[in-house]
Amino acid sequence: MAARIQPSILSADFANLEAEIGRISTADAVHVDVMDNHFVPNLTFGRTMVERLQQVSALPLDVHLMIDDPDRWAPEYAETGAFSVTFHAEAAADAAGLARRLRSIGARAGVAVKPDTPVEPLLDLLPEFDQVLVMTVEPGFGGQSFLERTMPKLRALRTAVTAAGLDVWLQVDGGIGERTIGIAAEAGADTFVAGSSVYGADDPGAAVAALRAAADGHAHAL
Ligand code: DX5
Ligand code: ZN
Repeated sequence: MAARIQPSILSADFANLEAEIGRISTADAVHVDVMDNHFVPNLTFGRTMVERLQQVSALPLDVHLMIDDPDRWAPEYAETGAFSVTFHAEAAADAAGLARRLRSIGARAGVAVKPDTPVEPLLDLLPEFDQVLVMTVEPGFGGQSFLERTMPKLRALRTAVTAAGLDVWLQVDGGIGERTIGIAAEAGADTFVAGSSVYGADDPGAAVAALRAAADGHAHAL
């Protein structure tokens, strides 16, 4: 299975997002970090912005909601036509119920966990989700260092997904570059968000290709 590379526009030029998305046309999706200044101490895009990005992007949008009360707010991001909407387990009152609502609107449903949040409570709920995001930095900012201590959670998820015969994508986000992507791929990730390592490169398209090659070279034996 080829690795999916999803650059985060958190590290792009916010004044030129349409052009910035055009620079990563070989990627699999655009990762859009929605932050509310409550769940995380940073503020980025809201629904109106995501709607507009949806109109100008040739790539699907992978929306990562770092917000409080996703039970209330996440469905309206699915209504923008986003390919995928991921909310945080720590913030959701009813993760399975919310995932069902997102799917019924037509989005893939994702659930995310911060570095110190265990995944065991999610293992029995895996059929409810299309994607599980294991944060490999504390959410809130780009450019932080990859936390290798989160890798046991990916291994546990990969084992559970394989044992249940499911097709749940396992995503990592934070500190992903050419070295760390191999570590995450070996642990079982198949979907990779990268912000600063793509948009900090002179040629973001070449950075996407290099990340994909590095991940495929370390793919977990399924
Ligand atoms: C962090 C965001 C990430 C961020 C990753 O809270 O969820 O998507 O853009 O940035 P890098 O790849 O620079 O760690
Ligand atoms: Zn993110």
